[in-house]
Amino acid sequence: MTWADDGNNPMIHFNGVTKDYDNQTALRDITFSVEKGEMIFVTGPSGSGKTTLLKLIYFAEKPDRGTISIAGWETGQLKESSIPFLRRNIGIVFQDFRLLHNKNVFENVAMALRIRGAGEKEIKARVYETLKAVNLRHKADVFPRRLSGGEQQRVVISRAIVAEPTVILADEPTGNLDPDTAEGVMRTFKEINAKGTTVLIATHNRELFRNSGRRVIRLDMGNLVAEDRT
Ligand SMILES: Nc1ncnc2c1ncn2[C@@H]1O[C@H](COP(=O)(O)OP(=O)(O)O)[C@@H](O)[C@H]1O
Ligand SMILES: [Mg+2]
Repeated sequence: MTWADDGNNPMIHFNGVTKDYDNQTALRDITFSVEKGEMIFVTGPSGSGKTTLLKLIYFAEKPDRGTISIAGWETGQLKESSIPFLRRNIGIVFQDFRLLHNKNVFENVAMALRIRGAGEKEIKARVYETLKAVNLRHKADVFPRRLSGGEQQRVVISRAIVAEPTVILADEPTGNLDPDTAEGVMRTFKEINAKGTTVLIATHNRELFRNSGRRVIRLDMGNLVAEDRT
């Protein structure tokens, strides 16, 4: 099984996707596509279904109706055993996936490569290069608690990008950051995207995409209410 497809498929495609939790519908009949190399936003008020949408892409949840395909792979057709393979191509910046506080910055980022079985020499080179890209090379030996919120979030982003995923999913990535730090984090995403990675950012904060010229998917109470360009 290879990640590469015939090149004609969108990176992400939802077709009539519905997701229910107990007796509540979190997403209702959602259809949209994300093209390869796009940087796109998902927005909407709290509870509108943004996090659920990202979890579906990451296979952390399964749709109750409809189909989802990633680079042409229809997720409903996949064997459970293929899921870890597909996940390796997706970098995530999720709120419930924070840094390990008993490991330093280097080890937190290296983790993503170790689970892929990379050698020590490659790990060293890639981790330092990635930390340099987010201006944290000098903090490699520091433990997360000694870093500011913005620095910690840049480490989370390093961990998400170090293995060069095809897609990055970020859930409220600037959530607790001051405006300047948030701007730095957004700049990092733009740079990753400029190198060809598809980036999908869920945020309730309109400032992040105002006048960005990017496509925005708007959710409200589980419905896709608009799809437009800012
Ligand atoms: N694990 C869950 N169990 C039950 N309900 C959930 C669960 N996760 C989300 N929901 C509900 O689904 C809806 C969408 O939630 P969510 O996707 O987290 O929205 P957002 O990220 O836009 O705030 C909300 O009404 C929320 O309460
Ligand atoms: Mg959310």
